[in-house]
Amino acid sequence: MKTSDFVTFSKLPVQERLEQIAQAAGLTQEETAILQNANSLSMEKANSMIDNVIGRYSLPLGCAVGVVVNGREYCVPMAFEEPSVVLGVSYGGYMSAFTGGVFTSDTGSVMIAQVMLMDIPDIHSAKNKLYEHQAQITELCNAQDPVLVSFGGGMVGLDARVVPSAVGQMLVVHLKVDTKDAMGANAVNTMAEAVSPYLEEITGGTAYTRILSNLAVERLVRARTTIPQEVVGGESVVDKIVITAAFAQADPFRAATHNKGIMNAISPIVMATGNDLRAVEAGAHAYAAIHGQYTSLSTWEKDTQGNLCGTLELPMAVGIVGGATKIHPTAGIALKILGVQSACELAQVMVACGLLQNLSALKALATEGLQKGHMPRHARNLAATAGASGEVLEKIVEQMVAENKINLEYAKELLAQYGA
Ligand code: MEV
Repeated sequence: MKTSDFVTFSKLPVQERLEQIAQAAGLTQEETAILQNANSLSMEKANSMIDNVIGRYSLPLGCAVGVVVNGREYCVPMAFEEPSVVLGVSYGGYMSAFTGGVFTSDTGSVMIAQVMLMDIPDIHSAKNKLYEHQAQITELCNAQDPVLVSFGGGMVGLDARVVPSAVGQMLVVHLKVDTKDAMGANAVNTMAEAVSPYLEEITGGTAYTRILSNLAVERLVRARTTIPQEVVGGESVVDKIVITAAFAQADPFRAATHNKGIMNAISPIVMATGNDLRAVEAGAHAYAAIHGQYTSLSTWEKDTQGNLCGTLELPMAVGIVGGATKIHPTAGIALKILGVQSACELAQVMVACGLLQNLSALKALATEGLQKGHMPRHARNLAATAGASGEVLEKIVEQMVAENKINLEYAKELLAQYGA
C-alpha cells in the first residue's frame, strides 16, 4: 500500500479493509473470523487471565496504515476507544514518508529488578561486597530461568546504591536482566525473590522489596523523523509546531497532555498486542520526569533547510512471547498483522507511531485546532447513541456537520424526522 493511500483505506467499508489487511498479513479465514467475533476470547481463557471474571469487554480494533519505520512499511493494529487517533498516526506516517519515514534505535531488552535491603550498619561496605559476589548472584538468578538463558537472555549486570529515606538508609540493588522477546516481569520478579536470601547473607541486612522497576531505562527506544516544510504546511506551520512543542517542554501542565497524545498511539498498540498497558504508561511518565521536572517526551525543531525534525525517546517494556500476547487470540493476530520478529522491533514501531501521532496532534493544534477534525466523528457517535444506523446515520451525521449543530438532542430530532 502506498503511504498516500491511507485516506482511501479509511473510506473503505469495514469488510474490505479487513480483506486488504488479511491479504497483506496472510491471515487465515479462521483468523479473520476471530477479528470479527467480539467473543473470540472464550470465557475459559478470560477466567484464566484475571480474578473474579464475570464476562468480557470488547473494544474496536483499528489499523493505521502507511507507517514506514527503518525503511519497512507496517500496518499497525490499535485497540481502544478514541476517535481520530488511528488516522492521526496514518497521516503522520504519510508526512514522514517523504523523507523515508521514521528511523529508530533501541538499547536492548534489559529489565531491572529491584531488591531493597535495610538494617545494615556498614551499608557502604555491604554495597561493595555485593559487587564482589556478582558472579554468584548472576549464577543464582540465571538458575531461575534456564529457558531464558537458552535463548541468550539472563542477568547481564548489577548496580547497587545507598538511598536515604524517611526511615533510614536503604541499599537498593538493581539486577539487570536481558529478557529478550518477553516483557519479562515474571522472570525478573522470580529472580529478585530467589536471590534475596543470598543478598541478605552477603550484606547482613533484611530484604524488604523485591520487584521489577517500571522505569525501564535499560530498554529505551529512540525515534526521529523529518517532515519537509512544504508537506507540513509551510514555514509558519513549522514555526508554530516548534513553539507548541517548546510549550510542552517548559510547562508540566501542557507536557501531561502532549505526552498523553504520544501515548494515544502507543497504548492502543500495547493493548492490541496483549502487552501490559500500565507498565508502559508508568515507564513513559516516570521517564518524562527523570530529571526532576515532568516534561515532554518528544522534541520538535527546525533544520537549516526549514524542515521540521522530531524526536521521541522513552522506555518500552513490551514482549512478543508470554502473558496475554499468547493467550488472547486477537493479540496473536495483531502481532501477525504487524509482522514484527522481535520485542525490540515491536517497541520501535510503537515509539515511531507515538512520534507520528504527536506530529499530527501538534499540526492540528498549531493550525485549525482539534475540534474541526474531531466533530464529524463526534456527530457519528451521537447519531449512533440516538439509535440511528446505516444510511440514516450517514444522513444525520452529514446534516449535523453541515449545520454545525452537533448534539444528542438534534440527532434524536433528525432521527424522528427521517422516520427511523
Ligand atoms: C487528545 O487525546 C490528545 C491531544 O490533546 C494531544 C495534545 O494536545 O498534544 C490532542
